[in-house]
Amino acid sequence: MRTLFLAGNWKMNTNSVSSINLAAGLVRELAEIQNVRIAVCPPFVYLQSVSASLCGSQIELGAQNVYFQKNGAFTGEISCEMLIDCGCTYVIIGHSERRHILGETDELINLKIRAAAAAGLKPIFCVGELLEERDKGQTFDVVERQIRKGLDGISPEQAAAVTIAYEPVWAIGTGRNATPQQAQEVHECIRRLITEMYGSETAGNLTIQYGGSAKPANTAELLAEPDVDGLLVGGASLKVEDFAAMVKTAAAIKK
Ligand code: 13P
Repeated sequence: MRTLFLAGNWKMNTNSVSSINLAAGLVRELAEIQNVRIAVCPPFVYLQSVSASLCGSQIELGAQNVYFQKNGAFTGEISCEMLIDCGCTYVIIGHSERRHILGETDELINLKIRAAAAAGLKPIFCVGELLEERDKGQTFDVVERQIRKGLDGISPEQAAAVTIAYEPVWAIGTGRNATPQQAQEVHECIRRLITEMYGSETAGNLTIQYGGSAKPANTAELLAEPDVDGLLVGGASLKVEDFAAMVKTAAAIKK
């Protein structure tokens, strides 16, 4: 049995006051929720204050990025140890905005996943195709390449701590979500690939989130698919009522 996992990726949004208000609002709204894993991923500079706001609640903390080196002369970068020190359990790695706006490669993403796994941080590893790749029928090839390269050198024990987030780039921030069937089709392929790489037990326990214009109105139908184990939520995670509604919908789903 996989527990549904909803994570809010706040991206480059909020400020010192609104980040705390958002976290505190979620703590209040979601106090009674059981059987759903919940995380929020604020900007680096608000991790500590949000961590304090989440203290005592079941909502866990994640970061949006990390660097693979332990410490040293890497101006502007943040290490796994620093994230753990700030209270993080999770770290998003390989988000499409980092791949396509900041130029991150599969090789760099792999170094980050290795570093996070070695440090005991749980990676939320993002994969997904561009619209032109989907139109050319390359979706599975792209996702397979990203996963094989991203998880290169990751042991079965380390793979057990990884969440994969399938985020088709054309669905991110566009208001156009993948249909539940489109998401299911790719998630099923991902699980088959992980079976091939790590065996059926790891694959059966793997959480595969969908991300891309997920919102209260499409949460139930997406999560109803057998291989959709959660959501990585951008825009809708910035409003207490929207993200709380999505978590409550997840809590009511029996799979
Ligand atoms: P939106 O939910 O805003 O489309 O963003 C999805 C995403 O990129 C989450 O990481």
